[in-house]
Amino acid sequence: MSETVLVRACAVAELPESGTLGVELNGIALVIVRSGDEVFALDELCTHEEVSLVDGEIYDHTLECWLHGSCFDVRTGKPTGPPATVALGTYPVTIDGDDVLVALPAR
Ligand code: FES
Repeated sequence: MSETVLVRACAVAELPESGTLGVELNGIALVIVRSGDEVFALDELCTHEEVSLVDGEIYDHTLECWLHGSCFDVRTGKPTGPPATVALGTYPVTIDGDDVLVALPAR
């Protein structure tokens, strides 16, 4: 198993309810997603045409790309609606107090 390192992404309070925040951690561009009480971390760029998903819409554990409407399950990164067919990378999230910590590959 590859090693990971926990990196602080933001405060929970910085995340809009059912919204997103773009961050760059250890050189990886991520979109942090809040869906109800849950927080997820995924690759920032849509796998269809590589636009930022920070401006996407969140509903029912879905992140919908603003450009062509691809839908991704924020829990798995898997596409649930076309045109994207390739999953987004996902990263485990830990909430520590008000801090959102993301497990990233150690370098
Ligand atoms: S760029 Fe996201 S669906 Fe096309």
